[in-house]
Amino acid sequence: MKKEDQILYEIWNELNLSLKTSNHPFHIFSVSTIKDNKPDARNVVLRSVDKEIRTITFHTDKRSKKIKQINNSPDTCALFYDQQKKIQLRIYGKISINDDSYKIKERWNKSRDMSKLCYLNKISPGDKISSSKEYLYDKDDLNNINTGINNFSIIDINIESIDFLNLNHKGHERIIFNFTKDNETIFNWVAP
Ligand SMILES: Cc1cc2nc3c(=O)[nH]c(=O)nc-3n(C[C@H](O)[C@H](O)[C@H](O)COP(=O)(O)O)c2cc1C
Repeated sequence: MKKEDQILYEIWNELNLSLKTSNHPFHIFSVSTIKDNKPDARNVVLRSVDKEIRTITFHTDKRSKKIKQINNSPDTCALFYDQQKKIQLRIYGKISINDDSYKIKERWNKSRDMSKLCYLNKISPGDKISSSKEYLYDKDDLNNINTGINNFSIIDINIESIDFLNLNHKGHERIIFNFTKDNETIFNWVAP
């Protein structure tokens, strides 16, 4: 396998591995949006990877502030770092809210109760509250934990390019992969 192909293979492989291992460095990544013409970013959990359609996915609360930002501006950058391997991925693409109700139900049903609880909270993420825990769901709501699905959403990032950087004492290496609409992969080595 050519070196470039090997790197791309490893990128997909490591992203996939991170789904099953919560302490994998790619399990949590930073995703950016545009908020009132200024950059914003936050950490999220990587929930799925689909190499065929070049899409990575996370879950969020439909009421959170990022939803409006995603609707207003579809461009995003997702940032990953593996400290041990010294690999940084900057994944650029289009971010969107997935409204496939079958998929939403399927993923909700597969979620653990602990994850579902976040979606029961009474106050929308980012809204002002008068004391620190005022947002929490009521104990009675635990009998209807599945009502949380109304606040649950799936966010997809369709990948357009990946900027891969590997720090190495023998010489850093950086390569950019661009994916065309015709499913072609074009790569360029660049100076790190
Ligand atoms: C380790 C970690 C993992 C997180 N995972 C998620 C996640 O998967 N989805 C999510 O919406 N927020 C997640 N958050 C919270 C977000 O970083 C953020 O605070 C929240 O989504 C509100 O963001 P917003 O105001 O930009 O919408 C996580 C935070 C941390 C520290």
